[in-house]
Amino acid sequence: MPTFKVAVLEGDGIGPEVVSSALKVLKRVGELSGMDFVFEKALIGGSAIDHSGTPLPEETLSLCLESHAVLLGAVGGPKWDSLPTDKRPEKGLLAIRKALDLYANLRPAKVYEPLITSSPLKEDVARGTDFVVVRELTGDVYYGEPRGIFLDDGKRVGINTMKYTEEEIRRVVRKAFEIAQHRRKKLTSVDKSNVLEVSGLWRMVVEEEARNYPDVEVEHLYVDNCAMQIVRRPSSFDVIVTGNIFGDILSDEAAVITGSLGMLPSASIGERHALYEPVHGSAPDIAGKGMANPIATILSTAMMLRYSFGLKELADAVEKAVELALQRGYRTPDIYSDGCKSVGTEGMTEVIIKALEEVWQK
Ligand code: NAD
Ligand code: IPM
Ligand code: MN
Repeated sequence: MPTFKVAVLEGDGIGPEVVSSALKVLKRVGELSGMDFVFEKALIGGSAIDHSGTPLPEETLSLCLESHAVLLGAVGGPKWDSLPTDKRPEKGLLAIRKALDLYANLRPAKVYEPLITSSPLKEDVARGTDFVVVRELTGDVYYGEPRGIFLDDGKRVGINTMKYTEEEIRRVVRKAFEIAQHRRKKLTSVDKSNVLEVSGLWRMVVEEEARNYPDVEVEHLYVDNCAMQIVRRPSSFDVIVTGNIFGDILSDEAAVITGSLGMLPSASIGERHALYEPVHGSAPDIAGKGMANPIATILSTAMMLRYSFGLKELADAVEKAVELALQRGYRTPDIYSDGCKSVGTEGMTEVIIKALEEVWQK
């Protein structure tokens, strides 16, 4: 029986709360299936800054490098907001993505039928929405040089650089085509090529790669139009591929269509490593209150079972258990609607574990 070692980085705010839920689910998956998961914790983000002065300590990085997968909660919070950009908790997250070369960030947005009334969109618009944003994660304006705040003629100028090499675009675009081939075979590439040269190159590379995937239908959208089409016709999308900053923004928009940001999981994948984290942040407004929705993090562990460990049936079981809990009417406050059963983070976790046991018995 193989042992799967998971590096666990709880982070800040609601990070420890939602990670604790996901670990309970993963432990139960292990007990039911006989798979051996071992967890080792390390610090990242604000808690790491408080402990050792840096958002990504070396021991955290080594643990991640030697583990089979990484589970991360969220980083950041008001306590560290006055730090300069390169010393903030968020820098730890950006540094680990780069160090593990996690270039493809998969963010699946799926509207569950029991949650249809929690979507801010009309029911008939939201129904059937099931797409995945493939966000490039290690390039773009997030990492481009030069960057900084400089003095020009005695006046401050803020500079960031939007930059992509051909290879960086090609590898994530290929990944997106492959994902589309296993889904409904439709790829939407999102850029701003009417204004930006980086986007012009992006579109050229997508067109070149499209010849290698003739079974996949390709659509190009400018990012402003895409933001609009996502709320107008969300169920028409299958795979959306885009750069780092556009993907960041569009995936929060996609998330809320499903009812709450607390529902959206993610997998960040490279050739050698993978990291799983909810799309949401550390939610300082609800941290420590036991009311965070743990589903995004629990579904992130399902993605881990599927992509890192090849345990498809176990991943399906976790996803099914989440769906059952929702069907039975259990809701954390962010997805609550009249007539449902109100639960907190722990309550939702227990209901999902119970559902998992039933799914497993069948
Ligand atoms: P956020 O995602 O933390 O919160 C946005 C809103 O969604 C808040 O009202 C919050 O209460 C709600 N929310 C988020 N997750 C939820 C959950 N699981 N259950 C219920 N409600 C949930 O975004 P923000 O407020 O813009 O950022 C807060 C901090 O988190 C900042 O420091 C930011 O940099 C950081 N952040 C980190 C990550 C990450 O670690 N991956 C992602 C986004 C933001
Ligand atoms: C996310 C977050 C991060 C990002 C921040 C916290 C650095 O918003 O994971 O979506 O912009 O990538
Ligand atoms: Mn984001």
